[in-house]
Amino acid sequence: MPGLLAALVVGGLLAGCASSLDSTHGAQSAATNAQWRQSVDAIGTPVGEAALSAWNIDVAPDGRGLPAGTGDVATGGRIFAAKCAACHGAKGEGLIGDQLIGGAGTLASANPKRTVGSYWPYATTLFDYIRRAMPYNAPQSLSADEVYAVSAWILNRNGIVPDDARIDAAALAAIRMPNHAGFVPDPRPGRL
Ligand code: HEC
Repeated sequence: MPGLLAALVVGGLLAGCASSLDSTHGAQSAATNAQWRQSVDAIGTPVGEAALSAWNIDVAPDGRGLPAGTGDVATGGRIFAAKCAACHGAKGEGLIGDQLIGGAGTLASANPKRTVGSYWPYATTLFDYIRRAMPYNAPQSLSADEVYAVSAWILNRNGIVPDDARIDAAALAAIRMPNHAGFVPDPRPGRL
């Protein structure tokens, strides 16, 4: 019985709210309701391949998911100067964005510098990260060729690929990063 009473009270409050909303907002609330109805009706509708492909851009460590395209170090240098240096510094030394270049041999020191060159285990992650998130102020605005080129420049300045390197999917996946062997499996949640 107390349950039924509570239900009646809540029902009455809701009815009161709805009628005052209707009278104050009129047409606007009708439009909002129609939009809401549409989005609720869409739940359960399969997402099409085209809509999904815009989100499906992850690259695996072994290079699966890398797109066609290619870029060289010199082109990457020009892109970096125009679109990255303002935040990462002209030489990738770091400003408001992370240091991307240097730090080799510092990981075991008191002042470790974790950069793409000194720390990252896979070159393929560089493509994924830049394509997904950079430039910070305009993510996903670079073409695949531009991402390959700027990746080539960052790798070159870290001493990982030569000045005349041209990077594509196969070349990126074949690179062995300096700190590749520096990661160990984390035993948690077992005993530490
Ligand atoms: C407006 C500033 C800005 C611009 C422009 C910018 N970045 Fe960044 N970048 C950042 C910030 C901030 C971070 C750190 C983001 C975070 O940790 O969430 C970052 C992180 C990164 C990282 C990861 C570094 C790490 O060790 O975790 C890479 C790689 C990178 N940026 C590359 C680029 C490239 C390449 C460009 C140009 C195409 C670029 N960024 C342009 C601000 C910027």
